[in-house]
Amino acid sequence: MAADSRPIKQKTFTNILDQYPAEKRYILAMMQDVQGEYKYLPREGMQMIAAYVDVPLSRVYSMATFYKAFSLVPKGRINFKVCDGTACHIKGSNIIIDQVYQYLGIRPGETTPDGEFSLETVNCLGACALAPAVVANEKVHPKVTSSGIIDIIKSYGGQINATSN
Ligand code: FES
Repeated sequence: MAADSRPIKQKTFTNILDQYPAEKRYILAMMQDVQGEYKYLPREGMQMIAAYVDVPLSRVYSMATFYKAFSLVPKGRINFKVCDGTACHIKGSNIIIDQVYQYLGIRPGETTPDGEFSLETVNCLGACALAPAVVANEKVHPKVTSSGIIDIIKSYGGQINATSN
């Protein structure tokens, strides 16, 4: 996992929180807005939310880990979502996940040290006819093969790991 080198802006947090009354029922909405801004949930953001609505940080943290939509680590410039739903799994999504690990050195939930790529798995993209499917940011790549994922990585500027074969 890469350490986050992007600056965290306190003012941005304050702007987000100011949109909501300081009530517990808005915690989830605040978390979604913070993640929308930073593409993940920085610890500072969770701390500010907790302080704002006067709950322990552990409460915000447990919500962040409960809901799969939240990420506690920064996503890469290119975030690969490999579908691992039934149709995609049968058609080899695990091979794609292995290929990404082999060529970029990241497993689901991880980001490359340079912050360029991250990987996550999702259950079903609702496009099973395209299995196995990979989404790179918003772009869907259909029927991805084990060699096709390498071409996709390269197309986003990925440097293929010299130790791979
Ligand atoms: S299982 Fe992958 S798109 Fe449905």
